[in-house]
Amino acid sequence: MDMRSPWILVLLLTSTTAEYLVPTPPGRYNVTLTTGPLIDYARDDPYAAAPTPRALMLSVFQPSTCASTVSVPDMPSEVADYQGPFLKQTFNISVNLSPLLLEAHLPVCPDPLKVSRCSHPSDSPILLFSPGYSIPRLYYNVLASAIASEGFTVITIDHPGDANIIIYPDGHAVYNNASILDSPTWDTYTRAADASFVIDQLSNATAMAELLPQRGPRPFPTDRVAMLGHSAGGASAIIAASRDPRIRGAINWDGTIFGSPPPPGLSEPVEVMSQPVLFLSHQDYAGPSWLSTWPRLEGPKLLLYIENTTHYTFSDMPTLLEAAGQGTAPFADLLGTIAPTRMVRILTTYTTAWMNAVFTGKVGEPLLEGEEPGRFPEVSALMRGNF
Ligand SMILES: *[C@@H]1O[C@H](CO)[C@@H](O)[C@H](O)[C@H]1NC(C)=O
Ligand SMILES: *[C@@H]1O[C@H](CO)[C@@H](O)[C@H](O)[C@H]1NC(C)=O
Ligand SMILES: *[C@@H]1O[C@H](CO)[C@@H](O)[C@H](O)[C@H]1NC(C)=O
Ligand SMILES: *[C@@H]1O[C@H](CO)[C@@H](O)[C@H](O)[C@H]1NC(C)=O
Ligand SMILES: *[C@@H]1O[C@H](CO)[C@@H](O)[C@H](O)[C@H]1NC(C)=O
Repeated sequence: MDMRSPWILVLLLTSTTAEYLVPTPPGRYNVTLTTGPLIDYARDDPYAAAPTPRALMLSVFQPSTCASTVSVPDMPSEVADYQGPFLKQTFNISVNLSPLLLEAHLPVCPDPLKVSRCSHPSDSPILLFSPGYSIPRLYYNVLASAIASEGFTVITIDHPGDANIIIYPDGHAVYNNASILDSPTWDTYTRAADASFVIDQLSNATAMAELLPQRGPRPFPTDRVAMLGHSAGGASAIIAASRDPRIRGAINWDGTIFGSPPPPGLSEPVEVMSQPVLFLSHQDYAGPSWLSTWPRLEGPKLLLYIENTTHYTFSDMPTLLEAAGQGTAPFADLLGTIAPTRMVRILTTYTTAWMNAVFTGKVGEPLLEGEEPGRFPEVSALMRGNF
């Protein structure tokens, strides 16, 4: 990274003390946001020092019609405070990004328990989202809102022991456990089990009433569930779908599939599967783990490359910098040069197009067939199969 630019940014960020709002999601709905835990009493957390039930934290983004929105913090202050030093160390940057995360606010529909003017479309399809390794789910709030605003219920998941910090409603924190990296498949099997547990609980009226009190004790249908993730989360989406047929399609945002090709004596993490799989890559190149997985995908499969992006453009960071009035230019090495709104548009459009293909059972959109090259010139197909 350019040595001078971060210093300019330090000055800018320290003067940004006022809260700022990210743009209203682009789709035809606004969104409601509810956060809360789902606890698996049948499964001990593999990364806890003492026997502890596995406790996920979720954010549920539901498409909704509401004439006005309210502004809510993007993340709890404890999570934002933790990120500055984490990002400095992980990316060797001199600037403290905690204020950027602390001051970010999301426009969401008012709490339906207090205001009854919100209405959800009935039973929209569900998209589970799994974050990058050690990255809290809250780094993807803007992207999740954008997808939800197109008529999907998006559930982002914090995997305990993996996310660098999770704050539970009672205030206690769970931190990353680096022993995850000792396994060749990292945390992907545990993440896949987490996804299956969330789907189990979608049918559990009591659990859903605890998570979404305004909705009442009603289960969600589980016949239209797909899974998306970024980085290790993208790999987990494919692995989870290959093991759980209730996940009807998978989308991998730039995730290496750890353990693929497998080291001697181990099996491929992705089982042979028939659900549709979409890969979105930041580079004009298919890595060995994707090439090794590709023949195991017997349903429609598509690998796209997005120009001028990096691995971390697939997050809210570019949007937050822009919304805070900072611009992304000083972070071009880390976040790419594509305009943040454009990246949100591309990720949302391809993800929702793939979801629609998954649930109609047919990849029929001209966009996915590569018949609209002028619409997103930044996107090119590297590999395509079975449609
Ligand atoms: C991390 O996970 C390992 C199991 O992989 C466990 O033995 C250890 O106690 C955990 N460490 C902490 C600090 O929780
Ligand atoms: C979403 O909220 C904005 C105000 O923030 C409002 O102008 C717009 O009409 C709302 N749209 C829908 C579909 O509810
Ligand atoms: C971190 O960045 C500084 C300059 O910004 C550079 O001198 C140093 O070599 C970098 N360290 C690592 C481990 O990359
Ligand atoms: C359903 O959810 C409730 C509340 O979280 C929980 O106590 C119960 O064990 C769950 N049932 C099943 C079958 O998971
Ligand atoms: C990618 O960035 C380069 C350099 O800024 C620019 O010339 C090019 O047009 C960009 N590509 C697309 C597809 O926008």
